Amino acid sequence: MSTDRFPVVWVALDVPDVPAAEALIERLHPHRHFKVGLELFAAAGPDPVRRWVDRGLSVFLDLKLHDIPQTVERATVRVRELGVSLLTVHAAGGRRMLEGAVAGAGGTLQVAAVTVLTSLDRDALGQMGLPPAAELARTLYNVARGAGVSAFIASASEVAELREADPRVRLVVPGIRLPGDAADDQARIAGPDEAVARGATDLVVGRSVTRAPDPRARLSTVEDLVRRVARG
Ligand code: C5P
Repeated sequence: MSTDRFPVVWVALDVPDVPAAEALIERLHPHRHFKVGLELFAAAGPDPVRRWVDRGLSVFLDLKLHDIPQTVERATVRVRELGVSLLTVHAAGGRRMLEGAVAGAGGTLQVAAVTVLTSLDRDALGQMGLPPAAELARTLYNVARGAGVSAFIASASEVAELREADPRVRLVVPGIRLPGDAADDQARIAGPDEAVARGATDLVVGRSVTRAPDPRARLSTVEDLVRRVARG
């Protein structure tokens, strides 16, 4: 299980290469929690991740795995060996795949399930013969809980409902914005304090911090807001 102390603010390293990622890590020193997504992992592979973990950083690997159970279990074991703290998988992979991911994790690695991608609206789900997002998310949440998954990616709009359903789960909320920020391509945004007040244990912050003229100062603002609610 994870040794992170909550709430955790993960800064998304949504950059195309290692020099850009390291520059961001340097600018945000002494921040320790970073999310590596598909773009950076496809460009750089596991070596920099291993190096960052060895340096004492905590890494959330957002790979959103979705494959047959054995493939996911074995990939999860490899991710665990990197010393990563969190790994995302798609709940839609089904109970056996999720059980495989949970079995492959352990130690300090925790599996976090994505229920419904926030980019999918009612039309897109309907085209695939799927029910609306809220209904599908609830169904997939129950499947994942049944498989032993105890962490979920949730938007700010569903976090309160999930928190009410289970006070123990880890809820990771992206789409965080400070007053005055652009929403960009995010549809369901919230302030850091608002997300934590609704029940988030973890926040993912990308452009609000990384695009700011002074990312370190911006991150401190996020952390101050979070701390105030968490103590509150
Ligand atoms: O820049 P921004 O704060 O919008 O970045 C949010 C990060 O969280 C991105 O890395 C994005 O891929 C990720 N994410 C998300 N929505 C999800 C899951 C992950 O925005 N449902």
